[in-house]
This record gives sequence, structure tokens and C-alpha cells, in this order.
Amino acid sequence: MATKRLDIYIDGQHAGTLIRTAEEEHIFRYREGYSGPPLSLTMPVRERDYVTMPLTPVLQQNLPEGVLGDALRRQFGKLTDLSDEFGMLTLVGACQIGWIQAVPPGSTPPPCGENGPPADLDALLHTREEQPLQLFRELLRRFALYSGVSGTQPKLLVSDAPGRLTFTTRHWIVKFQGAREHYGIAVNEHLCLLAAARAGLPVPEHHISDDGRRLVVRRFDRTEAGEARMVEDFCTLQALTTHGRYNGDYADIVTAVRRYAANEHRHEAYERLFASIVLSMLVRDGDAHRKNFALLYGREMAPRLAPVFDKVTTTVYIANDLPALRLDGRHEWPDRDALVRFGMRHCNLTQTKANRIIDRCAAAVSDTLDQFAELSDRGEVFDRTCERLRAAWLEGLQTSACRPVQSRAAPSP
Ligand SMILES: Nc1ncnc2c1ncn2[C@@H]1O[C@H](COP(=O)(O)OP(=O)(O)OP(=O)(O)O)[C@@H](O)[C@H]1O
Ligand SMILES: [Mg+2]
Repeated sequence: MATKRLDIYIDGQHAGTLIRTAEEEHIFRYREGYSGPPLSLTMPVRERDYVTMPLTPVLQQNLPEGVLGDALRRQFGKLTDLSDEFGMLTLVGACQIGWIQAVPPGSTPPPCGENGPPADLDALLHTREEQPLQLFRELLRRFALYSGVSGTQPKLLVSDAPGRLTFTTRHWIVKFQGAREHYGIAVNEHLCLLAAARAGLPVPEHHISDDGRRLVVRRFDRTEAGEARMVEDFCTLQALTTHGRYNGDYADIVTAVRRYAANEHRHEAYERLFASIVLSMLVRDGDAHRKNFALLYGREMAPRLAPVFDKVTTTVYIANDLPALRLDGRHEWPDRDALVRFGMRHCNLTQTKANRIIDRCAAAVSDTLDQFAELSDRGEVFDRTCERLRAAWLEGLQTSACRPVQSRAAPSP
């Protein structure tokens, strides 16, 4: 196999080269004299090469998977070699989540922070699809090449035209309801994000389409002014490939936060991470894996926990689903005591603080449940999804947030 190369840009600066050798090793080499931000928080700028057998994790983290990956292979597989991850990076590397761009040697990437032609956001929100994935298929041709984004749900990266008053372009991830077995997943995620926001967690702006089949989520790796920011998930931060997303313990994520979040954001990150894990347990989100938490940083923004994303009640699709990672060594839905212990042992929280966070999350979930009645009127997909989520959330509240009943002393005769 011949040696292949890509030029790697970071926040618009030519930072180095990725080489895939005949022996299928991947070598990342910083350019001589480069002094900008590192490729990953785990890869400080240095003269010595970084050599890995699989593709360097931070360059792998955004590669399209699932329906989008398959569609790209079908659309472009005859024109370019997409048989491996290096091929996929060559195809979508110029437009991906974060501020890294990978382009063929000698070519200039598009301005970092831009993302393809504008999409009609109104149509995305108000079109009623006749068939599942109809809009996804229509938009693939225009947007797939600008969609360097991972994940199993069908999705595209789009931007809308500059606003008349603000002249700014906004950048979005559009997530489509795909497989029949994931009926209502867009509504499901919308409701889980509403609960997270009520619990005080930062959540990106998001909109559900009128027909409940698409969720449009504002990208937090682009600023109002169109600058790019870097996102690193907790596979990358622990040098794991995306296949390791379900391996390990939530405590590993805390360890990586301790190591890579800026001092001034660390304590807040522990609290938010704890709240986010608690919320996942209450809404029975069995997909809160390593790639569904990330650090976010930028030119003038020290590394901190990224806003919440991709919260979904999974037990409505897989009845016996379990949490994505172990919690303090145990692979089961935790009770309240287990959550408090995790908060105290790993997240630097006092017992009182851990309990307060659990109460806040539980109240947020209950209040969002109360809101379901308003949503049920919006059509069948809303109605059926609310009904299924209700049972799952009530069970989550019951088993993971309920305080154990205090045994009372027997009344004296
Ligand atoms: N609002 C956002 N802004 C920037 N990046 C995001 C945002 N939401 C998600 N991402 C990035 O895009 C990736 C895929 O998004 P997401 O997790 O929502 O997709 P998914 O298909 O539901 O994933 P999964 O395979 O976990 O089900 C995430 O791992 C994260 O890196
Ligand atoms: Mg995800």
C-alpha cells in the first residue's frame, strides 16, 4: 500500500502533516516552528512524531458513521477510496466539528468556521415528510461533503443564511428520525434536552420540526462571530478509538476532566458532569457513552465541559437497556445512594451538594413530565413518544432518585 498524506490545519493555521505509511501506521508530525494550539489536549506540540497504528483518535472522532457514512460511501466510493478511515478523513476532513481541517497536500482549506452552502432552516422545521428520511436523502447531495460529524443517527451539518439584522451565520446539526425501531427519537431527544435545561445544565439552542421527525441543534463549536472552537470527546481524551465508546466507568471521564479541564473550570465541570450523569440515569439514557461528553475550548476559551448533547431515553427502544458505562464499577441503573456515593467519591462533592443536585434533576424531570400534556396535541409522534417516555422517566425517578424510606422506631406500647 502506498504512503498517503494530508495537510492538517488547526484554527486556520497549517499545523502539520498526517502520513499513512505502507505498513498502515499513522504518523502525525507538527510543522517545524509551529507554535499554535495542539492537535489534541493529549498531544502537546513537539518535534517528535506521534505514531499510532489506528488513525490518530482526534482525527477519527468526527468521521461519519451509520447512515451518513453509508450514504457517503455509496455516493463517492467509486470516485475515491473510502475503504478505510484515512479515505473518509480525506473526503470530509475540511468541514468537520471543531477547528481541525484535513486537506490533500498543498491545497488550501475553506475558511475555518464556514460550512458549505446555506440551508433553508424554515423548510427543515416546517416541511412535513411523506416518508421517513425523505428530506435527509434530498439534502445529502448538497451537504454530505460538509458533514464531518460522527454518530449513529442520520445527520447533516448545515448553516443558515446571515440574519437580516445580525449578519451572522448560524451553524446547526440536523438529526433525522431514521430507522423504524427509533420511532420518535427526535422528539425523545428534544424532551430530554428540555429536562436537562430545566435542571440548570447548559444546552444548545434546539428546535423540533413540526412533524416531529427532525431535531435541529445549534452547534456550540461555532461562535456568533463565526469563529471555530475545538471539541474533544472522552474517547479522544483517553486515546481510545471510537470503538471504545462503551468501555469503562464514568469515573474515567472525571479523571480526564481533572487532567485536561482548566483549573478555573474544573470544579464547575465536576458538578455539571455529575448532574449530567444523574439526569441520564433518571431519564433512562443508556447511551451516555464516552463520545456523548466532551471538552470545549477556543482561542480565548480555556478547556471546559461542553454543553449537554445527545440525551435520549433508550429503554423505550431496548427494554432491558443498561447505562452506557459502569458507575463506580457497577453496570446497573443506580439507586440514589449509589449516585450520592459516586458524587462524593469522584466528583469532589459533599453529601449535601450531591443530594441537592439529584433533587434538582428529579424536579426538572417531573416538571418536564408535566409539560407533556401540551406537546401531546402536536401529532401522533409527539403523543406516542410522550406516552412511552412517561413510563420510563417515572421508573427512573422511582429507582434512582427516591430517598430510601426511613424505618421509624416502633411506637411504644
Ligand atoms: N451542538 C453541538 N455542537 C457541536 N458538536 C456537537 C453538538 N452536538 C453533538 N456534537 C458532536 O457531534 C457528535 C455526534 O452528535 P450526536 O452525539 O448528537 O449524534 P448521535 O448520532 O446521536 O450519536 P450516538 O452515536 O451517540 O447516538 C458528538 O459526538 C459531538 O462530538
Ligand atoms: Mg452521540
